[in-house]
Amino acid sequence: MTLPAPAAPVSVRDAVQALARTLESRDIDEALALAEWAVADLIRVGRAELRTEGARVLNGPDRARLAERAERLAADEPLQYVLGHADFLGRRFACDARALIPRPETEELVLTALRLALPDPIATVRVADVGTGSGCIAISLALERPNAAILATDTSAAALALAESNARALGTAGRVRFLCVDLLGGTAPDSLDAVVSNPPYIESPVLAGLDRRVRDFEPRAALDGGPDGLDTIRRLAPAAVAALRPGGHILLEIGETQGPAVRTLLSHAGFAGVRILPDLCRRERFAVGIRAFSSPPRGPGIC
Ligand SMILES: C[S@@+](CC[C@H](N)C(=O)[O-])C[C@H]1O[C@@H](n2cnc3c(N)ncnc32)[C@H](O)[C@@H]1O
Repeated sequence: MTLPAPAAPVSVRDAVQALARTLESRDIDEALALAEWAVADLIRVGRAELRTEGARVLNGPDRARLAERAERLAADEPLQYVLGHADFLGRRFACDARALIPRPETEELVLTALRLALPDPIATVRVADVGTGSGCIAISLALERPNAAILATDTSAAALALAESNARALGTAGRVRFLCVDLLGGTAPDSLDAVVSNPPYIESPVLAGLDRRVRDFEPRAALDGGPDGLDTIRRLAPAAVAALRPGGHILLEIGETQGPAVRTLLSHAGFAGVRILPDLCRRERFAVGIRAFSSPPRGPGIC
């Protein structure tokens, strides 16, 4: 059974089944779940509510949109790109091939940054998100810390355009400054309280073996971290040391085997108390460091 032509009336229940079978016939993983998400989103209900909406008949425009979604899902395009959005920390971000799809572990990075580096909810602080992509980190920080000034950088003008439209949609347009620069290019020395980044960190040789949905659809510049995955972090560490005030924090998302190397990189660059932290699945996915004082802070003089 394939999807009925957009002109033919179809119930929600039949549409889900037809889409699931179409996807199964193309060997697409999780065909039923994808079909349920695609139809639920189309009629603007949660996936759990589909059961009670089963007899509802899809209108003509919805059938046409579903046919378009079916084609894209059958080509193994990621669901979030097909739907055009992804949820991140309870907020909806527009999402398309211009930027990486926001991931749950990056939600953990933001929560860790709030807890360790920005614990005061009303403090006036300056924070940079390096490699902002969809803007999910920068915008979430701006919403959680209303007095923070956020700088969001990316080398992809296309990603920045998406991030800026997300900032407008989520009401943070005036508080996040988007810049198309390399890393922290142009940031004044000693001016930031925190640098948060989910940089590209996948080892180049591993890219070819990634899930097709990632490899063929997400931007290579968002994934490729060079031969050992650490090219961007290697350059970001000294740039962050220069831009942070003494005592300011760096928080990075990293690959699960990269902890020891990143710890060394950050320590050599001038970060103290470097820690590698696990995610909820107990994989070592985050690195945190504090910019050391260039000389030990002076106590009261003895004379
Ligand atoms: C892994 S994605 C992260 C996107 C987003 N922050 C997130 O967590 O979903 C990395 C981003 O860094 C950007 N990028 C890569 N190299 C960069 C550089 N040297 N300076 C600034 N941004 C860079 C890429 O264009 C991409 O948008």
